Amino acid sequence: MANILIKQAEIITMNKQEEIIHGDIRIRDNLIVEIGSGLEVQGEETVLDARNRTVIPGFVQTHIHLCQTLFRGKGDDLELMDWLRKRIWPLEAAHDEESLYYSAMLGIGELITSGTTTIVDMETVHHTDYAFQAIAKSGIRALSGKVMMDQKNPDVPAALQEETAVSLQESVDLLEKWNGYGNGRIQYAFSPRFVISCTEPLLKEVRNLSARYGVKVHTHASENLGEIEIVQAMTGMRNVVYLDHLGLANERLILAHCVWLDAEEKRILRDRGVHVSHCPGSNLKLASGIADTPGMLQDHIHLSLGADGAPCNNNLDMFNEMRLAAVIQKPLHGPTTMDARSVFRMATIGGAKAVGMEDQIGSIEVGKKADLAILNLCNFHTFPSYDVDPVSRIVYSATRADVETTIVDGELLMLKGLLKTVDKEV
Ligand code: GUN
Ligand code: FE
Repeated sequence: MANILIKQAEIITMNKQEEIIHGDIRIRDNLIVEIGSGLEVQGEETVLDARNRTVIPGFVQTHIHLCQTLFRGKGDDLELMDWLRKRIWPLEAAHDEESLYYSAMLGIGELITSGTTTIVDMETVHHTDYAFQAIAKSGIRALSGKVMMDQKNPDVPAALQEETAVSLQESVDLLEKWNGYGNGRIQYAFSPRFVISCTEPLLKEVRNLSARYGVKVHTHASENLGEIEIVQAMTGMRNVVYLDHLGLANERLILAHCVWLDAEEKRILRDRGVHVSHCPGSNLKLASGIADTPGMLQDHIHLSLGADGAPCNNNLDMFNEMRLAAVIQKPLHGPTTMDARSVFRMATIGGAKAVGMEDQIGSIEVGKKADLAILNLCNFHTFPSYDVDPVSRIVYSATRADVETTIVDGELLMLKGLLKTVDKEV
């Protein structure tokens, strides 16, 4: 945490009025304490000259698997269930402490350098403590948890099969160690993989524990038609109806994908305040489908964005997800559907709502935590021009290479391409 003064920037605030202003931001410790113009240096401050730079709220990605970063390129051209059985489960089973740590670090480096400041992350069955160590060292804000897979399934490698009580106990042990770590930068999130991987007693206890500790539950649902068929055969219900039947559908639930929803499922998501993480890159590459995000927005379902794991799409870059979230809807619904502002909202304040931190992150406002990225859009493809909405410029033209600085909780994690991450005490 530091004292920082960002001078003469274009600031995309994403406050209630979604104002874009030109001026300065003062950061004291981890908080934004002043926004104005002509702010004078006060005491010891790191001054960032942000002329011709654009400051945005750090991206909040609500569905990531850091444990899969090392599998990039090892699961291409497959659909979900084959991809899991043939590639991802055996690879997750083969992780050791060191490989998991470096998989997480590699993913976090990619996230921080592309402007993501908060993630909701799902790990594998074992060694999750090492992913938390990587998260803690890096300084990224994260809600994470060990994946839970207690359903007996011959397609799952023995190393990923676990007993219900052990799965719950290991999750609680990790929660007690890491939840709230680093000034609250780390939070635990229970992570039952998906309905297919979990027994009913486990899911019911996850519901109880999530309520008791006030932490999130992060899982996948209704991603793929084959998956939905298996869930129907196992439970006699569709995914969201089953999760609701178990009492899991509430504002603490973050559901990745939701590509195939019927009207009842949509009603449950809206009425219970469930948060959907839309993963357009992954949904396209795994041939899962195109989620009806315009319909979900119209139905007032909470939407945010996530890149999923690196082998799903094949990068962790929110610029990619925003652009895909916008363009895949255009041929279906017309050019004004999922406009730039809608997807930028999902990538910032929408994600903040999903993690229950909309009063702390997701926008640039006095009193909020300093989770920001500074972009240099002075490239030939996006030369600043004040008659173009900068949000549109970012969504349709910006890339990860345009990110110069990333700040989390007032800490400079990247300054002009130099990662300042890996030597903090944990
Ligand atoms: N469903 C269950 N596990 C996974 C996973 O690891 N990735 C994706 N995309 N979907 C899943
Ligand atoms: Fe996933």
